[in-house]
Amino acid sequence: MLKNRFLLLFSLLFASSVIITSCSKDDDDDNPPAPSEFVADDNSFASFMNWSKDATAQGADPALGGMAHGGNDETVVRDVYFKDGQAPVNGIYPVGTIIVKHSKNPEGTVDERTAMVKRGNDFNPEGGDWEWFMLAPDGKIAKDENGNAMRGAKLMNGMCLQCHTAAKAKDYVFSK
Ligand code: HEC
Repeated sequence: MLKNRFLLLFSLLFASSVIITSCSKDDDDDNPPAPSEFVADDNSFASFMNWSKDATAQGADPALGGMAHGGNDETVVRDVYFKDGQAPVNGIYPVGTIIVKHSKNPEGTVDERTAMVKRGNDFNPEGGDWEWFMLAPDGKIAKDENGNAMRGAKLMNGMCLQCHTAAKAKDYVFSK
């Protein structure tokens, strides 16, 4: 009888110690769970020029079709910045990934900022859940002539997504 009680006590102690260790394991986890959706705002792109500049391209690129991103001008330099140097995980960029591309030429006739943000949460299932943006020179989300924010899954009548589908195998990102 005494032995049985001892065994019961022992197994209770053992069970609670397992619970305690598994709880403290969670507490020790420094990485918060990945968000299911990231909705960018004006502050999301602040100081993008200090981010990791992971690609620079210059001159005509057949993939640009001589039109997008000032691609038909030999003097245009296209710098691509990845916030926190984000990289794909198993081929897919994490929710919250922000990529900004600044295209400019020395004369200043081309000076364009575009961005793509991994929004997640089934925002754009046919397009990897990316949201597309045009940015103003101050890095905030640009507004069209009607004052609407230039953002969305189908920005520019779907042209951003349509062209970037050529890079679908790299989660719609050409330059990394
Ligand atoms: C005609 C094709 C085409 C269209 C349209 C296009 N892009 Fe791109 N984009 C590219 C190519 C090609 C690159 C790779 C870098 C380079 O060579 O300039 C690129 C690069 C980018 C990058 C840097 C990340 C990457 O994929 O390398 C961003 C951000 C971007 N584009 C945003 C946009 C947005 C926003 C739009 C719509 C307003 C848009 N793009 C429309 C072809 C296109």
